[in-house]
Amino acid sequence: MVAAMETAAKLHLDQVSMTFNTPAGPLVALAPTTLAVVPGRLISLIGPRGCGKSTIFNILAGVLRPTAGRVVIDGVDSTGITGRVGYMLKRDLLLPWRSVLDNVVLGMEARGLSLREARHRALPLLRRYGLAGFENLHPNALSGDMRQRVALLRTLLCGTDVILLDEPFAAFDAETKLAMQDWLLDLWADFGKTALFVTRDVDEAIYLSDEVCVMATGPGRIAETIAVPIARPRQRHDVLAPEFIAIKERCLELLAVDHNPVGEAA
Ligand SMILES: Nc1ncnc2c1ncn2[C@@H]1O[C@H](COP(=O)(O)OP(=O)(O)OP(=O)(O)O)[C@@H](O)[C@H]1O
Ligand SMILES: [Mg+2]
Repeated sequence: MVAAMETAAKLHLDQVSMTFNTPAGPLVALAPTTLAVVPGRLISLIGPRGCGKSTIFNILAGVLRPTAGRVVIDGVDSTGITGRVGYMLKRDLLLPWRSVLDNVVLGMEARGLSLREARHRALPLLRRYGLAGFENLHPNALSGDMRQRVALLRTLLCGTDVILLDEPFAAFDAETKLAMQDWLLDLWADFGKTALFVTRDVDEAIYLSDEVCVMATGPGRIAETIAVPIARPRQRHDVLAPEFIAIKERCLELLAVDHNPVGEAA
């Protein structure tokens, strides 16, 4: 059963758990958690502060070794191994001394491409994806959303099939966020990546995703995974469709009962 899941899945979190040793004693940040992601899907994780969303990402990225369980990518045990996935955070982490173009090519250079070749490949993409005219500016000259576009393009070009996006649009106002979501969906469709997206915004999670994993605390875990059977490309008015609203209701219900510890009746 597990072996079959592993072959079909791009990414498989197999009974992964995480306990941190803190001065106050052991803290179970993540109860044993299993998640299989089909290639090319976009999956969102949503849940309250401290439910282990970033812990899952740090484990998937190999920067944190889980207390138990395995991370399997393309059928290969990748637990504790870095470089298998692209990882992008809320803060854009652009290098201020490099131009936009030279920030975008960082991941390509890390893969061994010369700066010249990397620039040659990246330039048409910057132009195609709304960054024409910004190539030679430095990040400080850009607005927050433009900087985040640069960071996202860099993540997409880092050469991995899987990308992890941890609350990338959390800092933006509602209007900017909607524009960024549609921009992300365009790129995701073009690049064919398998993507995991963390957000605390229920509408954003549903609008973007094939599946929404609703997490809970006490200890951190996936409470329920909800499929989003809404056709792509998504349209703005999809948020008013009865299927969308039904999924939203279920998400809100799960998030509202989160204060009930495991094993206690809801
Ligand atoms: N290095 C660490 N040492 C000790 N505890 C940690 C460490 N990293 C995370 N935690 C704890 O583990 C739990 C899960 O943290 P995590 O950052 O994964 O939550 P999150 O769901 O990403 O929250 P947020 O919505 O605030 O980003 C929290 O209680 C957090 O305080
Ligand atoms: Mg987090």
